[in-house]
Amino acid sequence: MIKKGIILAGGKGTRMSPLTKAVNKHLLPIYDKPLIYYPLSILMLSGIKDILIIVNKNELDQYKKIIPNGNNLGVKIRYAVQNQPRGLPEAFIIGEKFIGKSSVALILGDNFFYGQSLSKTLLRCTKTKTGAKVLLHRVSNPEKYGVAKVLRNKIINIKEKPKKFFSFFAITGLYFFDNKVINYAKKLKPSKRGELEIVDLLNVYKKKNKLAMDLIGRGGAWLDTGSIKDFYKTSSFVSAIENRQGLKIACLEEIALNNKWISKNEIIKAVKFYGNCEYSNYLKKIISKNN
Ligand code: DAU
Repeated sequence: MIKKGIILAGGKGTRMSPLTKAVNKHLLPIYDKPLIYYPLSILMLSGIKDILIIVNKNELDQYKKIIPNGNNLGVKIRYAVQNQPRGLPEAFIIGEKFIGKSSVALILGDNFFYGQSLSKTLLRCTKTKTGAKVLLHRVSNPEKYGVAKVLRNKIINIKEKPKKFFSFFAITGLYFFDNKVINYAKKLKPSKRGELEIVDLLNVYKKKNKLAMDLIGRGGAWLDTGSIKDFYKTSSFVSAIENRQGLKIACLEEIALNNKWISKNEIIKAVKFYGNCEYSNYLKKIISKNN
């Protein structure tokens, strides 16, 4: 089982300026909570309790205000700094000590996942023992993402943001790797745009016949939060589901309680921490239900 996870929450967020001039993109709201809650909830739903969040220099304090150390969620959260956005695989170089001898999951801080049986898919992915595994999702605009061509459930080709169409399957920003990823990442050379590329890393595994895939099917949603329009679309999606169901997406305390990682006491403390707001009211409802 993969027990360690990294959230990559650096980057300049230039596409969302001026919003991101003072506040990091991952702390901006997707409807009723900061964006970072969503990828963190995905790691927690995967059963991962040991988490490293990689953030920009000088922005650590912003994050610690809202996600201090994980004690309140029954998980262990550590932080590391990325000085420059040198590419996604740098997460494994920065996180080398944190990863140690383990396998590791990586989720991009701006990725949103939702859907029936998602938790089951996630738990299946954390069983990856050797090699790497990616989650694919059909999109109408594959040219904006890493793309995989699939034949009989096997990835036969991958490319980053291909100009010429070759598959509808985007490679989502959630990856599962064995421990070799640290050494492979160290050997990568920066691309023409000066970054270490995740597709180059995945290609190392593919060449060794060690790249597996799982699908998020039509019943699942994988949404992008790369631009301001995407932020609003994702916010509308969350608002529609939450208001219809009366249940929250990515309520971290609820997931921790369901996983039996915290008790009612931590929920009471969380209510105090958040203060008088709709999120607190939801937390109060959860514990009255669990009484
Ligand atoms: O969202 C999935 C896509 O993410 C994949 O399909 C692509 O293969 C992958 O390259 C990536 O593409 P993006 O163009 O969306 O990557 P972006 O540079 O926008 O960064 C994604 C997130 O990672 C964002 O939240 C910022 C953070 N980041 C990015 C880089 C390059 C860092 O924290 N550090 C970095 O060095």
